[in-house]
Amino acid sequence: MATKAIKSLYQLHETVSFRSSWKLRRLTTVRAFSAAMSPPSLAVVYDDHGPPDSVTRITEQPPVEIKEKDVCVRMLAAPINPSDINRIQGVYPVRPPVPAIGGYEGVGEVHSIGSAVKDLSPGDLVIPSPPSSGTWQTYVVKEQTLWHKIEKGTPIEYAASITVNPLTALLMLEDIVNLKSGDSIVQNGATSIVGQCVIQLARLQGIRNINIIRDRPGSDDVKVKLMKLGADEVYTESQLGLKNVKSLLMWHLVCCSTPSNILPLFEEMENNSYCLLVVDIDEDDIPEPSLGFNCVGGNAASLVLKFLRGGGTMVTYGGMSKKPVTVSTSSFIFKELSLRGFWLQKWMCSEKVNDCRNKIDYLLAQVREGNLKYEMEIVPFDEFHTALDKALGKLGSQPKQILRF
Ligand SMILES: NC(=O)c1ccc[n+]([C@@H]2O[C@H](COP(=O)([O-])OP(=O)(O)OC[C@H]3O[C@@H](n4cnc5c(N)ncnc54)[C@H](OP(=O)(O)O)[C@@H]3O)[C@@H](O)[C@H]2O)c1
Repeated sequence: MATKAIKSLYQLHETVSFRSSWKLRRLTTVRAFSAAMSPPSLAVVYDDHGPPDSVTRITEQPPVEIKEKDVCVRMLAAPINPSDINRIQGVYPVRPPVPAIGGYEGVGEVHSIGSAVKDLSPGDLVIPSPPSSGTWQTYVVKEQTLWHKIEKGTPIEYAASITVNPLTALLMLEDIVNLKSGDSIVQNGATSIVGQCVIQLARLQGIRNINIIRDRPGSDDVKVKLMKLGADEVYTESQLGLKNVKSLLMWHLVCCSTPSNILPLFEEMENNSYCLLVVDIDEDDIPEPSLGFNCVGGNAASLVLKFLRGGGTMVTYGGMSKKPVTVSTSSFIFKELSLRGFWLQKWMCSEKVNDCRNKIDYLLAQVREGNLKYEMEIVPFDEFHTALDKALGKLGSQPKQILRF
């Protein structure tokens, strides 16, 4: 009797557990089918590191599951920055494992959200903050904590490109040397987005700025453009072959000065010839800069160093010429110059993310108010490879390329 009871209990258990496991399997199957999924995404993919124009291709990615804390964003725009190119080339210190999707910053509209997402809704305009790999695609799924909601009505090309370059400009101006209104800075690569932002943000803070650009046909037009943004001085590299570049800061004021305060000077050029400089001593002269920014290297970095005052600091944040920074021994001993670097990625990984988001909001407000602008070209996504060629410099100096999805 007891054995029979145990046997029937056993059978009952078997049946129940079979049924429940069957039910579980059915449930799992139903869940798997009903899990929220992103739409398929068109993406710029590279399977290997190498020359960006040959290793990238546009291809469709399968839908991705949207987990409870995830947000699926329909991307609207993303820039092609030099660091995106370096990542694809495999020469950037942080490289996503291949195959990888290109891009690091951008802007999009929330398409759908996971069940536990509270602060974002479909239609919100968002940027990845800190930036995150894989923005060159039509749909991106990432955790809600990554997304920073920004004001609707912000021009999307600015929203897409506000972090990597404008934020770098602002952080380098505010957080390295304590500058006050009336002080000055010097920079090379002034035509870059960082450079254009440095000019305008410095201007907003009453900081004078000296700018160095590459020699090129039409350099006078470039100078006028940068002056319109708020540049105090713009020089091509070849104009700075003087020993005492600082005398140039006084030279430009000659036209508006009185004859009594003009002093003629002979300046020795580096090729052993002499030129006559007329130096105007004026209260409005630009003071010697205590801070310099270098994104080029080589001779352009040496020129930044030449402008710096004793005890000044040069911050290197890029190496566009791929040439090293060389510094004379005397710069260290007699001028006590300091050299340091800046890397946004490290800055934003730290506890400063919220502070950075506040600064991004400030920058976007400046854009909306018309105080911050920079040259861009908006390119349809299907013309990616043309935009890439421009960003690679194959077609000469070009405005920042912004992919429009
Ligand atoms: N460290 C960081 O955290 C950080 C953050 C943001 C940007 N960056 C760096 O900042 C730099 C500027 O970035 P961006 O996006 O603002 O630049 P961008 O708008 O794409 O412009 C490129 C700049 O590089 C110059 N350039 C290109 N090739 C050059 C060469 N062979 N020699 C000298 N100059 C050259 C261009 O001068 P022309 O006008 O004469 O063509 C232009 O000024 C890059 O090196 C980038 O990697 C670093």
